[in-house]
Amino acid sequence: FLVSKGNHRHFMEKEIHEQPEVISHTLAHYLDFTRGRVRSENVPVDFARIDRLAISACGTAFYAASIGKYWFEQIARLPVDIDIASEFRYREMPLSKDTLALFVSQSGETADTLASLRYCKSQGLKIASIVNVKESTIARESDVIFPTLAGPEVGVASTKAFTCQLAVLAALAIAAGKARGTIDEKEEQRLVRHLSEIPRFANEVLRLSPQIEAVCRELMLVKHALYLGRGTSFPLAMEGALKLKEISYIHAEGYAAGELKHGPIALIDDTMPVIVIAPHDKLYEKTVSNMQEVAARGGRIILITDARGAKETGIKTLDTIVLPDMPDIIAPLIYALPVQMLAYYTAVFMGTDVDQPRNLAKSVTVE
Ligand code: G6P
Repeated sequence: FLVSKGNHRHFMEKEIHEQPEVISHTLAHYLDFTRGRVRSENVPVDFARIDRLAISACGTAFYAASIGKYWFEQIARLPVDIDIASEFRYREMPLSKDTLALFVSQSGETADTLASLRYCKSQGLKIASIVNVKESTIARESDVIFPTLAGPEVGVASTKAFTCQLAVLAALAIAAGKARGTIDEKEEQRLVRHLSEIPRFANEVLRLSPQIEAVCRELMLVKHALYLGRGTSFPLAMEGALKLKEISYIHAEGYAAGELKHGPIALIDDTMPVIVIAPHDKLYEKTVSNMQEVAARGGRIILITDARGAKETGIKTLDTIVLPDMPDIIAPLIYALPVQMLAYYTAVFMGTDVDQPRNLAKSVTVE
């Protein structure tokens, strides 16, 4: 096996730390930073001629795609349907020829995602995929491939493939916006410039690992945890809960913060950790009011926010992880890092097999 852990204890740790580099590599394939433009030669899809995107994926790739939905809709005004592939393949969704079918998969071999692809093909749709393994079956059977250049991912719990999928989705949303005339050249340049800042912010955030490791000494003691977020932080909350479940075996759920009052609030007491993902964006105030509801019931809040957000909450937390202020579009990619680190250090303290968690496989090639 040629890939080595280097100085890291686990592949997962190594892969978390590789993110600034592999994201930068991936972005450079799609974006020309000098000119502030999308490299349209690497985006061979005419987004002006489609009226819908139908995305299917499994696991972490599904959460990346769920974040992408917000971007396609906001930036390119392109409606997006998104499904878990095991549901999509049997859902009998009406599909029109003007729909582009998009599949997101690290391995390119996931059975349900592949079956969804073949179903869409049988319906005469054009097939595009975002894959990390270029020689995979999904890549081979697609009309258009958008590679993530994350390099081989060994840890079963996906980290760098996830953020590289996000990088591709963001770049594609900008390309779609440009093609559909929903953004002009100035806006394209502004967004491309924002994405170019990801590696710098990611490096800065990786330096917070000692603080994150410390809070995991508390997190390792719990049986359940809740993750909350709004907007693009909502799918990230679900991804955070998935990461914690996968490698630490602590039961966790990710919820849209606004749904708290429709059920999960019943679970809140002074033993319940609630991880709140809340960049200071236009939904920040709303998330803070949900956080107040948690605090009022004694919930132990671990807040992940930025400098502005930390200054404004006024709510007592168990810990506040303060990231730098950053442009909204890059927040999901940067906030993914502390979310991954929370799961990682918790699992390390619990002594689980981080890279090969029980009952899980890196690539699920059977239904
Ligand atoms: C498995 C892996 C996950 C991954 C999912 C989808 O469950 O353990 O980490 O997110 O499959 O895999 P794919 O290769 O299609 O992205």
